[in-house]
Amino acid sequence: MIHPVIMAGGTGSRLWPLSRQLNPKQFLKLTDERLSMLQMTVARLDGIAAADPLLICNEEHRFLAAEQMRQSGFDDARIILEPCGRNTAPAIALAALQMVNELGDDDEDPVMLVLAADHLIQDVAAFQAGISRAIPLAQQGSLVTFGIVPGHPETGYGYIHRGSELAPGCFAVDSFVEKPNLDTARTYLASGDYLWNSGMFLFGARRYLKELEKHRPDILAICRAAVDDASQDLHFTRINASVFADCPEESIDYAVMEKTNDAAVVSLDAGWSDIGSWSALWEVSEKDERGNSFSGDVIAHETSNTLVRADSRLVATVGVEDLVIIETKDALLVAHKDKVQDVKKVVETIRNDG
Ligand code: GDD
Ligand code: MG
Repeated sequence: MIHPVIMAGGTGSRLWPLSRQLNPKQFLKLTDERLSMLQMTVARLDGIAAADPLLICNEEHRFLAAEQMRQSGFDDARIILEPCGRNTAPAIALAALQMVNELGDDDEDPVMLVLAADHLIQDVAAFQAGISRAIPLAQQGSLVTFGIVPGHPETGYGYIHRGSELAPGCFAVDSFVEKPNLDTARTYLASGDYLWNSGMFLFGARRYLKELEKHRPDILAICRAAVDDASQDLHFTRINASVFADCPEESIDYAVMEKTNDAAVVSLDAGWSDIGSWSALWEVSEKDERGNSFSGDVIAHETSNTLVRADSRLVATVGVEDLVIIETKDALLVAHKDKVQDVKKVVETIRNDG
C-alpha cells in the first residue's frame, strides 16, 4: 500500500487575479466545473491501493483544505499545517517524519507518493499504470520521479537526463537539472535524451529522510525539531512556528533530486500539464474554431486565440487576438498570451505597495 502526500502550499501567483493569497490556484476550479485542482488530485487516486491522502499546506488555508477534502469523501483528512512556506524539501520532510514517527523500528519503510495539488492529468489510467511501474523501484530504495516527454524548451521545469533502462519505461537518472536557462533547455530538447520532471515522486519515507540528511542535514534537523514540537488539533498537525521559521527555503529538486545518486525516472504519457500560467490553461482548454476559450458572459467579434474568463460581468472583445482576459469582482487582467509568465510581477507590485 502506498501513502499519498499532497503538497498544497504554493501561491499560484501567475494565475492572478483568480488565484489569491487566501484562495490560491490549488483550491480553484480551473479545468473542471465541479472539482478544484486539489479535488481532482484526490479523485485521481481512486482505484489505487493507497492509504488516505495526507495533505500538507499553509495554516492560512486549513478550513478551505479541510472542507474540500470533506467534499471529496475524506471527513477527517489528516492535514499538516505549515506556519510559513519553506518550499517542498521541508514540506516533504515534515510529512515523512510524521509518517515515520508513527512506526515501530521494525516496520518496513512506507512508500510515499508525493503529488502536487495543482497538476492536470488527462489520462488517469496511464498515470495509475505509471505508479504501478514505479512501486518496485521505490521498494528497492530508488527515489523515483515521473518524467514527461518535453514539448518545448520550458525553463520553469526540471530536466532529467535518462540513463540505462531498468525495466520497461523505467530508467536510471544520469543527471537532474532544475530549471535550466533557455539555451540549455533548447539543447536538452534537441538531444531527445531528456524528460521533464513532473514534480511527482515515489520513495520510501525513511529513504527520503536519509538522503536529505546526506545533502541538507540543516533542513532535516529543523524539520525534525519542528515535528517533535508540533501540536495536534483534531485532524490537524500544527508544526511548531518558531522552530520552523528558521528552516532554509529549498525545493526537493535542488536539495535532493539534483544531488542523489539513487534517482530513477518512470516515463509518463498521461496528458500531464502543470497549469502554471494562463497560457497553459488556454492550451488545455476546449477552444472554438478561432482558437478561443471563453467562460462566463462573453461576447466576441473578430477575436482569436484568446482566453476570456468573465466571473462577474459581461466581457466583450472586438478585433483582438492572443490575449488573456481574466475578469473578477475586484480586479481585471488583460495580458498578451506570450507574456503571462510576468503576471507574477503584478502580484509582487501589489505586495510591495500594499
Ligand atoms: N506544503 C507545501 N509547502 N507545498 C508547497 C510549498 C510549501 O512550502 N511550496 C510549493 N508547494 C507545492 C505547490 O503547491 C505545488 O503543488 C508543488 O508543491 C510544486 O511547487 P511549485 O512551486 O509549483 O514548483 P515548480 O512548478 O516551480 O517546480 C516543480 O514542479 C515542476 C513541474 O510542475 C519542480 O519539481 C520542477 O522540477 C518541475 O518540473
Ligand atoms: Mg508548479
